Amino acid sequence: MSARHDFFTLIHKGQRKELFAATVVAGTTDWDDPSSANDFVSLWSRLASMLEAHAAHEHNHVFPLLAEHAPEIVEHVEAAHADLEHRLATLTDTIARTAGHPTEEHGLAVYREVTAFVALYLLHILDEETLVMPAIWRSCTGAEINAARLNLQADQSPAGVTRSRRAILPAITDAERTSMAQAFQRGSTSEAFAAFMSDARQALEPSAWERLEESRAAFPSCPDHAPSMSEHGS
Ligand SMILES: [Fe+2]
Repeated sequence: MSARHDFFTLIHKGQRKELFAATVVAGTTDWDDPSSANDFVSLWSRLASMLEAHAAHEHNHVFPLLAEHAPEIVEHVEAAHADLEHRLATLTDTIARTAGHPTEEHGLAVYREVTAFVALYLLHILDEETLVMPAIWRSCTGAEINAARLNLQADQSPAGVTRSRRAILPAITDAERTSMAQAFQRGSTSEAFAAFMSDARQALEPSAWERLEESRAAFPSCPDHAPSMSEHGS
């Protein structure tokens, strides 16, 4: 395990993909049709659950790494979490209320509110990648980072792991996907790795799946200098 474990990059790529996809669905939902509106409520509910669990894991396991070293950064990202948590709850209520009495006009208002939330969320996760993660690398030992990683993993529900993995796998590069599979194979049972690959097969386009399968032959050659990246999220 590299000391430069990255808590954010992979799961944030998955979150960006899902947020963009949800934005497109919000814009293409027929808000005159209760069935179509309710489909968006379900989609948004699953996405909101993933974001809430992800934020809790960061609060409990990642930000405490900086509590003594960079309290000003912790204060900054915790304030963003509180703001986004409030906005997410309000938006989720608005979406459900609108779907209860859907109209084209209110649907367009929901779409615009979704885009505003996504814009704010994107800036927050950029802060985490460019402020929080480098500060942790500067301030913490590899052992401290690894302990936080293990505690975070232990805190994940099996359903949350699967949910996050399916978000991440289609959103990352071939090299990241191969590295993620390698790390998973090293750190889990053969049954768990088979489940990982089964998820990958379902989540990936056929061509990407074939490239992952082909890369398995080269698994031992993962570069040691590359930052390791977790698939944590929910
Ligand atoms: Fe966050």
